Amino acid sequence: MKKWQTTWRLMALFILTAVFMTGCGEPFLSTLTPAGEVAENQFWIMSLSTIIMVVVVAVVTVIFIYVVWRFRQRSKDEKNIPEQVEGNHRLEIMWTVIPILLLLILAVPVVAATFELANVKPMDDKNRDPGEALVINVRANLYWWEFEYPDHKIITSQDLVVPTDEKVYFSVKASDVKHSFWIPSAGGKIDTNTENVNKFWLTFDSDKVSQAGEYLYGKCAELCGPSHALMDFKVKAVPREEFNQWTEKMKSAKPSPETALEQQGEKLFEEKSCIGCHAVSPADERPEEVRTAPNMGNFGERTRVAGILPHDDENIKKWLEDPEKYKPGNLMTGKYPKLSGEEIEALTAYMNGLKVE
Ligand code: CUA
Repeated sequence: MKKWQTTWRLMALFILTAVFMTGCGEPFLSTLTPAGEVAENQFWIMSLSTIIMVVVVAVVTVIFIYVVWRFRQRSKDEKNIPEQVEGNHRLEIMWTVIPILLLLILAVPVVAATFELANVKPMDDKNRDPGEALVINVRANLYWWEFEYPDHKIITSQDLVVPTDEKVYFSVKASDVKHSFWIPSAGGKIDTNTENVNKFWLTFDSDKVSQAGEYLYGKCAELCGPSHALMDFKVKAVPREEFNQWTEKMKSAKPSPETALEQQGEKLFEEKSCIGCHAVSPADERPEEVRTAPNMGNFGERTRVAGILPHDDENIKKWLEDPEKYKPGNLMTGKYPKLSGEEIEALTAYMNGLKVE
């Protein structure tokens, strides 16, 4: 095949893929529907830089086409060489000053925003009032998220609950490999590392979060393994008052299996050593090295099973039966003997009964 044919085939494939991919966006997973100060700030800078780039490309293209056309070689006039100009002060000053101005227009808001977004002083203040500067410790794991509220001494997994209309400070790290914490419509992303803690803040506007969807979606944004794309979490942003009530309930939540089936499930949860990794109450005071699996404290209220499947009995059963099928490379596979249908039934009933509200 000729070289130009290969080039054009690749080009066509690229254009097709690009057009196809534009259909992949979801409104709740988009930086284009900002739902907080950080996301709005970042969206504004993105728009500004895009506008500047488009204007520059358009102007340069127009001048280029004009010059190519104006000074083209005309037939019967091949010998005529246009006037050769060397040095033109006015032009040179122009094409030096304009880029400098454009860079300044871009640099000033970017630098200002960088410092503003990196200001986490309130979270390090020893006399911090948790009612004013809420801190959440985020720990990323293969392939699940842990959210610890150190002021309230509670832990939850997969579903992050935050108050609206105030700065929420995040202290993020990872316990195995490098991941990245990203809530597209609220801002970010920020790397979660194993060797250091990163800090930043986000806000969640009450009037905008609902437009982004019932929940905001969070993602892992760093390739971390076979189930990287499935390492999702949900963000529920609620008014401060509701948030306070939630933390109070979480503090005292304990499993209270009611039916015989739930009680049987509780027994199995211990016998099959699920309890060795999964805590069943949000007030888990064990050190983090021991917390090797998601806290199940309010599992019955989660929106997704394993962060990805719609939360219903069917999916919980499917997950218990063969987690590997739904999240390849997860650390739960092989940790427990094969469960019978009856055992799965009982475990599902018990786990769905773990509720706070
Ligand atoms: Cu964790 Cu990608």
